[in-house]
Amino acid sequence: MQQIKQIKEIQTFALESRRAGKTIALVPTMGFLHDGHLKLMQKAREKADLVIVSIFVNPIQFGPSEDLDRYPRDLKGDLAKCDAVGVDVVFTPTNKDLYPDLFQTSVDVKEISKGLCGAGRPGHFQGVTTVVSKLFNLTLPNIAFFGEKDFQQLAVIRRMVTDLNFPIEIVGVPIVREKDGLAMSSRNANLPVRERKEAPYIYQALSYAKSLYEQGNRDSEELRRTVLDKLEEKIKSPFQVEYIKVYDALNLTEINGPITTPAILLIAVHLGGPRLIDNLQL
Ligand code: PAF
Repeated sequence: MQQIKQIKEIQTFALESRRAGKTIALVPTMGFLHDGHLKLMQKAREKADLVIVSIFVNPIQFGPSEDLDRYPRDLKGDLAKCDAVGVDVVFTPTNKDLYPDLFQTSVDVKEISKGLCGAGRPGHFQGVTTVVSKLFNLTLPNIAFFGEKDFQQLAVIRRMVTDLNFPIEIVGVPIVREKDGLAMSSRNANLPVRERKEAPYIYQALSYAKSLYEQGNRDSEELRRTVLDKLEEKIKSPFQVEYIKVYDALNLTEINGPITTPAILLIAVHLGGPRLIDNLQL
């Protein structure tokens, strides 16, 4: 496995590999890799000749009051994990190289970036789509892998790839959970002890609402209310719900009222510092 830091070097690697007829899979990450990331890499390993993992904590997708400085980092550990799953190249660019002086271009997927996480994090998805476009241009993947925990991010990237004609297959990989049900996230490392114990109630609340759905309840408002009631009953630490929503899983529009299409229940909660997101297909 090799680590590539320079833009020129990754461009040459990607171009020469593609010219030699090799297929490339990209797994974009912000590092502090957990089993969810490893799952993406394993899937990538099955699908392409070469696997590139990018590790870059992208400053332009964080708002001014967000956790950019507190975002956990462990490059040494990450490199060992990538090596163990058979990654070929880890691309670790610097801020200065990706965003040099006078940088002023952005990619904006307008409508589906607005709700859910986009409402609470203005500019976030513009930061994501801008960096992902750059990573696509630099690594020339045939296929790229993203986790379904960031369900809206996956939908936004799919839209961007279609709209901008990137010749890249986008693959969503199901959420990997801790034994107690908490969706894996690099941010979980910043949960204080009590909040870490209570965080699995988020998934339990979603699962309870899903069980009501499976028993025939199709009222999106009631299902949302159920999730909130469960959280209020179970979590004793201070927490703040950013959103609990039922969305159409295909076109990512909100469902208010009866659920008649494939739907997904999505949540964002601030608990003990970290902002946790999760979702469950109904
Ligand atoms: O999901 C992430 O880790 C990031 O949003 C991504 C896709 C690597 C872009 O910075």
